[in-house]
Amino acid sequence: MKRLMITGINGMLSQNLVKEFNHDHEIFGLDLNPGIYPDEAGIHVSIMDLNNAEAVKEILKSIAPDALIHTAAYTNVDRAEDERDIAFAVNANVPKMLSELCAELGIPMVHISTDYVFSGESGPYAETDLCDARGSYAESKLAGEQAVLASKANATVIRPNVMYGHGEQLKSSFVDWLVGELKQAKPVRIVDDQYNNPTYARRLAEVIRIVLDKKAWGLWHFGSKEIVSRYTFALKIADTFGLSSSLINAISTVELNQKAPRPMRSGLICEKMKNELDYNILSIGEELALLKEEMDVA
Ligand SMILES: NC(=O)c1ccc[n+]([C@@H]2O[C@H](COP(=O)([O-])OP(=O)(O)OC[C@H]3O[C@@H](n4cnc5c(N)ncnc54)[C@H](OP(=O)(O)O)[C@@H]3O)[C@@H](O)[C@H]2O)c1
Repeated sequence: MKRLMITGINGMLSQNLVKEFNHDHEIFGLDLNPGIYPDEAGIHVSIMDLNNAEAVKEILKSIAPDALIHTAAYTNVDRAEDERDIAFAVNANVPKMLSELCAELGIPMVHISTDYVFSGESGPYAETDLCDARGSYAESKLAGEQAVLASKANATVIRPNVMYGHGEQLKSSFVDWLVGELKQAKPVRIVDDQYNNPTYARRLAEVIRIVLDKKAWGLWHFGSKEIVSRYTFALKIADTFGLSSSLINAISTVELNQKAPRPMRSGLICEKMKNELDYNILSIGEELALLKEEMDVA
């Protein structure tokens, strides 16, 4: 059976990768803390800080996976403003080190970046558009993807937008949070001036399989078919889960007073993936229906 190594194994995307690959791959996960996979789950989890290059090199050499999927990141966008060095260590230096190791050991690598590499002033953006990251998280992620693409590894960088999906013990999950609040009849305030085409993590996991199977190295965008505000996205979630949208109130981003800037007019053009990988880009409604189905059977 092929061996797959996944960093940040407890995270949202990784949990979806486990669902995607578990039946035909032996999975080796790395993460900072013990998480959701008990020994009997059959996922081999090693606890380590990816900043420890020696430990990472040792485990990559000993496991010799058929591919490495790097999902781990410093993802707290606002805290990164105060912890710029830590964000750069994890989001820039670690992918650089991993891609160099993958080149040396002949391991194909998938790296997950973000739409935050763009200013968000004039989206949607194609893979060929110029990057202009704003804020420490964004700048550190841009440095990370540039290092991976500049390496000699057989590497793919995929940029998702705001990601949503199902999982256990997730640090932040917009859909779970919103559905929970609305079920308890609590009013929520959602920004109506940030636009993008959200990325469904379960389908991103499927895309990663295709990219590895086709050895489709390079840069790819992946999101849904339409670009909507976060407020409209929330309305669509309420509709999918049969909840009343009367408690969803629109607010503007400035009212949140967040430390880091957010891309306001973002969105990722997915034509390259649609045309070159022959992958069907779905509407938000179609993907939310898949998520509901996934959550109903979970
Ligand atoms: N979520 C989004 O909306 C979104 C949007 C665009 C792009 N992305 C990108 O997509 C990728 C996956 O995101 P996600 O939301 O699935 O991530 P996540 O749920 O935050 O999971 C990331 C995992 O990486 C671990 N980690 C962080 N620093 C580490 C280190 N130094 N060593 C080892 N493990 C470490 C985290 O551990 P702790 O929890 O213990 O810190 C966590 O388990 C990331 O690269 C992110 O930048 C995410």
